[in-house]
Order: sequence, then structure tokens, then C-alpha cells
Amino acid sequence: MSQSRKLYVKSFGCQMNVYDSRRMADTLASHGYVETAAAEDADLIILNTCHIREKAAEKVYSELGRVRRLKQAAAVENRRVLIAVAGCVAQAEGEEIIRRAPAVDLVFGPQSYHRLPMLLARAERDGRAVYTDFATEDKFAHLAPPSAAATRARGACAFVTVQEGCDKFCTFCVVPYTRGAELSRPVQSIIAEIELLAEAGVREVTLIGQNVNAYHGMGPDGGPWSLARLLERAGVVPGIERLRYTTSHPHDMDDELIAAHRDLPKLMPQLHLPVQSGSDRILAAMNRSHTRADYLSLVERLRHACPALALTSDFIVGFPGESEDDFAATLSLVAEVGFSGAFSFKYSPRPGTPGAEMPGQIDEAVKSERLQRLQRAIDECQAAFNRSCLGRTFDVLFERPGRHSGQLVGRSPYLQPVQATAPASLIGDIAAVTITEIGSNSLFGALAAVGPRAAVTRPAETVLVATGA
Ligand code: 5AD
Ligand code: SF4
Repeated sequence: MSQSRKLYVKSFGCQMNVYDSRRMADTLASHGYVETAAAEDADLIILNTCHIREKAAEKVYSELGRVRRLKQAAAVENRRVLIAVAGCVAQAEGEEIIRRAPAVDLVFGPQSYHRLPMLLARAERDGRAVYTDFATEDKFAHLAPPSAAATRARGACAFVTVQEGCDKFCTFCVVPYTRGAELSRPVQSIIAEIELLAEAGVREVTLIGQNVNAYHGMGPDGGPWSLARLLERAGVVPGIERLRYTTSHPHDMDDELIAAHRDLPKLMPQLHLPVQSGSDRILAAMNRSHTRADYLSLVERLRHACPALALTSDFIVGFPGESEDDFAATLSLVAEVGFSGAFSFKYSPRPGTPGAEMPGQIDEAVKSERLQRLQRAIDECQAAFNRSCLGRTFDVLFERPGRHSGQLVGRSPYLQPVQATAPASLIGDIAAVTITEIGSNSLFGALAAVGPRAAVTRPAETVLVATGA
């Protein structure tokens, strides 16, 4: 093993990047690297990047300017710093990164993470290198498992990647090009990882994948298992109290998975189900393979199976050809579904995707104005949902000290941050909390006298909010 060196990893973008960064740090830990939170102390700086929208990709170049200066300062002290760019920008832009930022030593895409120690050694020895091939071996099997000590430091909630890549080819999206084709991890390796996490104190696991509900990994019986079956199995790992999964495509939400929301008490009653638009014309142009009516009927079936279910979503405004009527259909869908929250984005043409070449690109000013209107509608829905939580008692999984001394912050079953006065000994545990106040970003509550494990039922109050078109 080489001498101890310091590693600084910065993640941009989605939860999968956060997970990948953890696995890279775990893998490098067994090669003598110790993580640091201070980039200026690091011998190796990894930027794990996101390419989903232009803004996300550009952030990387400004961060590269900052770390280049750190590298120069270290060189004055005769200390060598390696800069590596990982993630989807690395995959999509490859050599271009080194051309724009010559201080970068190594560029490697998501399919090369398991080879990182070897790639670093090579870059150190031979100079700059770029690796963006798609893997031929099982990357996950070659990444180091999370160590108990590292996991304990990370708390009560963890992500586990179960599926990577996407075969859907929505016309706006770079993911099928940067992450490649759908690939599901085998059940046993996922369960082994969840067991390690649970032993280290993790109570809530979120199974993640770009298209997680298309999961079809090999089960212990040699046949493919569905996500519903995997969730059921994960729920019996001792110590695991809560399960979530993200991100799902409406098309792959099958009856078995819908039934899991009725039958698995550990599956939290919150589902992120991106719809992107409320207009059938735009959904077709986006190649979403579902209509507005499909989505609404799916929501109805989900709510029938699990009346407590809260839904969140993603929206894109200003996709090529989006008329004022199309946009009005998106606003009306928001009102009709009554989401508990949603992310919304201005369409960003991504090089190499069909959307970028479509006629009818929308003016930036129009996109901005629509985004504002949509965000107002979503905020109203979210506020109504939060108001409906007032006076209710939820199980809260406490994660860390809160804003004020004596307070802890945790998450409700609906993922809302909840602040409550509680002893620090409750960190990592679930306790019942009655919601007493609704803040702008979190809920406030008091430990309930009754024991934990309150069943969640749908609030009596309806959360539908009328929004103007
Ligand atoms: N422009 C804007 N938003 C996008 N998303 C994906 N690609 C683009 C793009 N080109 C959004 C989608 C997706 C979320 C992760 O990012 O809403 O669900
Ligand atoms: Fe991108 Fe999701 Fe569509 Fe796949 S399903 S192409 S990840 S938006």
C-alpha cells in the first residue's frame, strides 16, 4: 500500500454522482487515500461532474479554474496535485476538457470508476490521460465495498445504486449517451451492500438508478428480479426501517410495483415520478412513451393502492415547439395531480440529442417567464401539502443536530426536513413527532408522547390547488 495521501471529491448533479463519489473514495481508501473536506490540502482532486443541462456542465469549468490555482500554489511548495474529472461531462466531452483546462491530469467516465487506482498510477507516470470507453466487465463487482467506519461517518440514510443507464432516449436527455445502456446489478451484491450499511447504522436506504423501475437484475435463483421483489427483499435486512427508490419512468411503473406501495410497510409513501410536460404534443416530441391520460391514470392507480402516497415530479418548460397552450396544459396538470413538490427546469439543448436539432426552439425570455409561472404553481401545491401536515404525527428519522442547540433535524416519510427538540441520543433513530409549525423550508414539531411507528394516512384535507393558465 502506498503512503497516505489526501483526496478531495466534489460531486455535482444527481444522487448517483454522490453515490459514485462515495464508492470512488472507498476504493481509493484501500490504496492509501484519506478523504479531506479541504481542497487546498488535497493531493488528488476529483470533480464528479453533471452534463444534464448546460449550466451544470459550465459549473465544472469554473471549478476547474479554482482547483488549477490550488495546483499552482502547491507546486510552489514542491507538492504535486493531481486533478481528475469524472462523471458525465468527462464522458461527453473527453479530450475537450483537457484542451480547455490543461491543468487536468485525468478524465474518466462513469464506466471506468473501478479502474481508478490503475488509471491514476498511469496518469502520474505517463502524463495526461482520457478514458471514456464503456465497460465490458461488472464495474460494481470491482468497486470496494463501503467500509464500516466510513459508512458510520455518513449517517442513517444511504443511497445504493441498483441500476445504471437508460434505454428510453427522451429527446432532451443526455443520460443514454453518458451513462450508456440500462444495466441492473445482481440482487445478491445489492443485498450484501445493504447488509453492510445496516450493520454500520444505516436505517433508510434509497435504491437509485437513472431508470430505477426498469430494474431487472439477476436474482439468487438465476432469473431476473423486478424492483418490487428487490424492495421486498431489502426490507427484511435486519436494521433497515425505511425504503425509497428513485428515479422512475411512468412507463415502467407496473402492477407489481404499484402493489408494493400497498403491501410493503417499510416503503415510504412518497414517489418521484417525472412527467416533464402536461401536453400530449410535447410528450410525443419528447419521446416520453406516455400521454397525459396515461400519467393521470397511473397516479390514480397508485393512490388507490396507497392512499397516503405523495407524488413529486420533474418538469421541463420551453421544449422546442411548446406553445402557450402546451404550457397551460402543464400548469393544469400540476393542479390536477396536486404534487407535494417538484423540480422544474428551462429546456437546455444538449449537443448530440435530437431535441437540440428540432425546429421551434423557444426564446430564453419566454422560457424564463414560463418557468416562473410554473414554479409559483408548484410552490403553491407544496405549501398546501405542507399545511395539510400541521397537527399530524409522523415517524421522523433523525439525522443530525438541528439549527438551534437541543434541536435535531430528520426526515418525515414524505422527505420533508423536520426540526424538533430532542436528545442527541436519538440521532440515527426513528421517533414520532407531532407537527406544530410549518416553515418555508422545513416543518417544526415536538416529540409525541405516543410511541413511534405511527401509520401514515393521507391527510383529510385535499391538496389540489387551482392555478391560472
Ligand atoms: N434540459 C432541461 N432539463 C433537463 N432534464 C433532463 N435533460 C434536460 C434538458 N436537456 C431534467 C428532466 C429530468 C431531470 C433530471 O432533469 O426534468 O427528469
Ligand atoms: Fe433521460 Fe430519464 Fe428519459 Fe432516460 S428516462 S432518457 S434518464 S429523462
